[in-house]
Amino acid sequence: MMTNTEPLLSVRDLAMSFPGRRRSAPVRAVDSVTFHVAQGETLGLVGESGCGKSTTGRTIVRLLEPTAGSVTYDGRDISHLSQRALKPLRKELQMVFQDPHSSLNPRQTVARIVSDPLLVQGSSAADGRKRAAELMELVGLIPEHIDRYPHEFSGGQAQRIGIARALATGPRLVVADEPVSALDVSVQAQIVNLMERLQRELGLAYLFIAHDLSVVKRVCDRVAVMYLGRIVEIGAKEEVYAAPAHPYTRALLSAVPLPDPAAERSRERITLLGDPPSPAAPPPGCTFHPRCPKAQEICRMEAPALRNTAPGPARQVACHFPETA
Ligand SMILES: Nc1ncnc2c1ncn2[C@@H]1O[C@H](COP(=O)(O)OP(=O)(O)OP(=O)(O)O)[C@@H](O)[C@H]1O
Ligand code: SF4
Ligand SMILES: [Mg+2]
Repeated sequence: MMTNTEPLLSVRDLAMSFPGRRRSAPVRAVDSVTFHVAQGETLGLVGESGCGKSTTGRTIVRLLEPTAGSVTYDGRDISHLSQRALKPLRKELQMVFQDPHSSLNPRQTVARIVSDPLLVQGSSAADGRKRAAELMELVGLIPEHIDRYPHEFSGGQAQRIGIARALATGPRLVVADEPVSALDVSVQAQIVNLMERLQRELGLAYLFIAHDLSVVKRVCDRVAVMYLGRIVEIGAKEEVYAAPAHPYTRALLSAVPLPDPAAERSRERITLLGDPPSPAAPPPGCTFHPRCPKAQEICRMEAPALRNTAPGPARQVACHFPETA
């Protein structure tokens, strides 16, 4: 049972490896990731392309079965549940995808798409249709449009349909994998507003995956920064954005333009050298060391653990030389 002290979602030492092609090493897409999400909160998950954000999200909603570690939802370890045992939990754990159009079946009407999760759970077609119309209204679409097809909607509208589908079964946790990255900037704000309103009205918890740090800054309560399959920093949004402790977080944030023109002119930019290494062959020691401006000898030998550090008790950083100011 859920108690007030127990998080809705706990991810512990989660790992997800994909078999390497032919005789190459396995791809350690997610490697020992630990975090939690409380009921009604938003945890942002950020990092460069290929760092394992989507794999983390897909493993949590059990589209993938983890190779190690655990995913505990509402006090229950769901890491290795069978598809059948997962079925009732599918109501509670839903996912919104990046590309709204490609995640909606072009040959199905919106009524069918949105009610599909309900039909899977055993609802009648008539009930599903009625609920689909209600959901259309909830996400700001015209209920009378439920017999239209996805291509008849704009990108932003299509993402509203994706959100309606995710909400059909009344979930408590929604993993949103780059839900606005494919949309025009003006439309992004509308979808973010919608997600915030739905969170307030329905008490949803979000794992909000994004590579755009300004979007994450807007929506999340806490933020986790991933690099090469691992979390390198996690903490309250205000703290992390005001005083990033990990050199990678500092570099990511230094690339975000500031709204204040004076601050923007004096913004320190940290350019990272090269691309992230392959998760099939991560560097020894701290996997960030080949690109880190602060790397020392120990960084090449010893992987830093993710541990509590100044400036806050809830802040964890994986670095031998975290920034403390
Ligand atoms: N099904 C798969 N089989 C093999 N490798 C995979 C598979 N899915 C992901 N990977 C690899 O795992 C790593 C992490 O991928 P993932 O899609 O989780 O990253 P991401 O952070 O979501 O990136 P992006 O920002 O581009 O969406 C990458 O190296 C990717 O190539
Ligand atoms: S442990 Fe060393 S290489 Fe890694 S982030 Fe910290 S300073 Fe940089
Ligand atoms: Mg992704």
